[in-house]
Amino acid sequence: MKSSELRQSFLSYFESKQHQIVESSSLIPGNDPTLLFTNAGMVQFKDVFLGEDQRPYTRATSSQRCVRAGGKHNDLENVGYTARHHTFFEMLGNFSFGDYFKKEAITYAWEFLTVVLKLPKEKLLVTVYADDDEAFDFWHDMIGVPKEKIIRIGDNKGGRFQSDNFWAMGDTGPCGPCSEVFYDHGEHIWGGPPGSPEEDGDRFIEIWNVVFMQFNRSADGTMAPLPKPSVDTGMGLERIAAILQGVHSNYEIDLFQNLIKAAAKLVGTDDLSAQSLRVIADHIRSCSFMIVDGVIPSNEGRGYVLRRIIRRAVRHGNKLGQKGVFFHKLVEALDLEMGDAYPELRKLKDRVASILLKEEEQFAKTLDQGMKILEEAISQLGDKKIIPGETVFKLYDTFGFPADLTNDVARENNLEIDEAGFEVAMDAQRARARSASNFSMDMSGSVTLDSVTEFTGYDNLAGQCEVETILVDGVSVDSIEAGQFAAVVLKSTPFYGESGGQVGDKGWLRGAGAFKVANTTKQAKAHLHQGELKEGRLSVGDVLTGEVDRTMRMATTLNHSATHLMHEALRRILGDHVTQKGSLVDPERLRFDFSHFEGVTAVEIEQIEDMVNEQIRLNRPVETDIMDVESAKEKGAMALFGEKYDSEVRVLTMGADYSIELCGGTHVKRTGDIGLFKIITESGIAAGVRRIEALTGKAAIDSTRHTESLLSNVAGLVKGNKENAFDKVVALNEHARSLQKELDLLKGKMAALAGADLASQAVAIEGGKLLVAQVEVADPKELRDLLDELKSSLESAVILLAAVNDGKVSLIAGVTKELTKKVKAGDLIKMVAPLVDGKGGGRPDMAQAGGNNPDGLSGALALVPDWVAERV
Ligand code: ALA
Repeated sequence: MKSSELRQSFLSYFESKQHQIVESSSLIPGNDPTLLFTNAGMVQFKDVFLGEDQRPYTRATSSQRCVRAGGKHNDLENVGYTARHHTFFEMLGNFSFGDYFKKEAITYAWEFLTVVLKLPKEKLLVTVYADDDEAFDFWHDMIGVPKEKIIRIGDNKGGRFQSDNFWAMGDTGPCGPCSEVFYDHGEHIWGGPPGSPEEDGDRFIEIWNVVFMQFNRSADGTMAPLPKPSVDTGMGLERIAAILQGVHSNYEIDLFQNLIKAAAKLVGTDDLSAQSLRVIADHIRSCSFMIVDGVIPSNEGRGYVLRRIIRRAVRHGNKLGQKGVFFHKLVEALDLEMGDAYPELRKLKDRVASILLKEEEQFAKTLDQGMKILEEAISQLGDKKIIPGETVFKLYDTFGFPADLTNDVARENNLEIDEAGFEVAMDAQRARARSASNFSMDMSGSVTLDSVTEFTGYDNLAGQCEVETILVDGVSVDSIEAGQFAAVVLKSTPFYGESGGQVGDKGWLRGAGAFKVANTTKQAKAHLHQGELKEGRLSVGDVLTGEVDRTMRMATTLNHSATHLMHEALRRILGDHVTQKGSLVDPERLRFDFSHFEGVTAVEIEQIEDMVNEQIRLNRPVETDIMDVESAKEKGAMALFGEKYDSEVRVLTMGADYSIELCGGTHVKRTGDIGLFKIITESGIAAGVRRIEALTGKAAIDSTRHTESLLSNVAGLVKGNKENAFDKVVALNEHARSLQKELDLLKGKMAALAGADLASQAVAIEGGKLLVAQVEVADPKELRDLLDELKSSLESAVILLAAVNDGKVSLIAGVTKELTKKVKAGDLIKMVAPLVDGKGGGRPDMAQAGGNNPDGLSGALALVPDWVAERV
């Protein structure tokens, strides 16, 4: 069965069991700072498990693209060394959100494997969490798996719930005991069953993990039960394909073989079994899909993981003898294999290839040198088995070798790297590198709010609202007194809670007391009004009047609507590779970060401004509709990469032929309300990411006015008006330039005069003249000019000039050609310089020095005549 048929058969089986087929989400988890990459099928359903999000279905199935490189689940270092580890893979999964539990999950898994795929039952064995008798009994009594083939695995990873049979998505979040199905590839392959000392071998391969989601783990380790027991399963498509295709290694399946052949051709090798080819074939998948999902190679976070993988792939190509660029060319072959299932790859493949090429070229420059240094270091190790941390650091710092790449080479040579030493040496760069693992924080907060605040503020900026909860320092209280700070949750509110880049509203809540809202934030679906009770008393159950600060909200709203108009303009003018990387909308301005490879030119800025302002003048109605995600997509709504959406979404249309986006923010009624749009800055904030800041409405007018007043000031200074100020400044510039020229000329003349004057002070010596003088010049260059002048006027001479400026001595010596046979300028300088605490030297005909002791100068100069006389 081909990989693509297998994918389909899995989805169809679960569809026949009333599961909704859900598309793979992006590799960048939406709104989830606890996770570097989507590493399992359940990631897009995290909030559903936690009960913070609801879907119209309670059963789902998907084939999810996953990356396990960096973060809790990291397989990078195993790629190429085992038959089954990948940085990128596809996970087939079925999910129950409080619907079925252990019994059905086990039944479906068994039926799919043994009935649909017809795997021989005797080849399968299963594991359960040590004390999960329930799961054990289902496998044994219901399915009929013999007891010796059901292995109990306890906390084998050092700590409570730290077990191969207790699955957690990260340090925090949903988790629970699991049951895994293993396939026995046969005696001819080394390895033992799970739990045995040989379990790391390749004989018994885990094919399916069935997780019984029951808890939400918070950062302090507390395990809160989930609202409803659920099911999350994951089966690696590549592993199961290997079994069905009768091969042992994942790398032997159809999809990989084609990639390996293509890679072999590109690097120029015939040996299809080369381990490096596997590494390359694995890496082209993760790298390409990361780029498709908006990651760009960089020195931090996800971008750094991508860079590490690309460099590892390039090094393996190099190992096989390919010294030129090759990796980017594999995108074509990948597209043939996976482009049908992933149209986003097909669409962006040229861009993917060009980003890879750029990174390859950059690394190629230092790869050779770095490898030489590394080989040299290895050859000097002698009996030692550890490459010093400093070498690892030097390779990283100077040659761009990520530590895991050096480790990869070390491993090939049966060596290790001194990781601790590397870390020490890395201290300076620590902060940046650390952001790659900076993705962990406590998401749970001290209270879990399950309130759902109804937002009434799209149309009304004031309204009656009832107090549901009051939190002081995260603890729920019944009431607060004047002077207390608190977060107030209302049943409904006109206050917008900070989200989607738009800042939260400020304002007042008035009733028996007056509460000043300094900011409104969101926790799950609750709006938290944060601020201080200025007077009276506020209690749960009070009914208050909420008044949003109108000026602030209106200004923010203009900026938010203009952001949508600009986003579309960027795509139309710069290209549809432009994707949103970040956005901030506040009353002062809008800030928008997006992917784009070079600076936006002045001409493009004008085009963008023109396009947005044209949309404003068209004064189009702005419409919002609530619909399901599918209809929104059909309507052509632009959704953010990786963003998770509820099944019902809010679709914002600003001209059906112009901008359709999903958005929960507040917006103008007609585009004309924005008034004016003006870009104020454009800059780069990271490799491949640009930032534009712009103004709208009154702020845009104020900014234009400010520029005008600057111009008026300039015009005033040059005694002109706005119209002719530019010409006048140009003329002034010209004038200044010609004055400078004249000044230079005069200076030269004066130097010549001074030179003539000095020349007359020269005294006769054997074969010419000697001139020793302290002169007044501004800089060493003038001193040199003066020397040249004197040399030519004195014709045959030994000259020593000195100048003192700011307590420093400058010396210059010159000897005309004939005389250099007897007196060398360099020697003269070497004699004089130490007497002024200086050092210097030079050629026989010209030498210079500086010194720090002006007091020694006159004594030093006095020695020169005798010194010269002795030599001529
Ligand atoms: N989420 C589970 C896993 O990744 C199924 O193994």
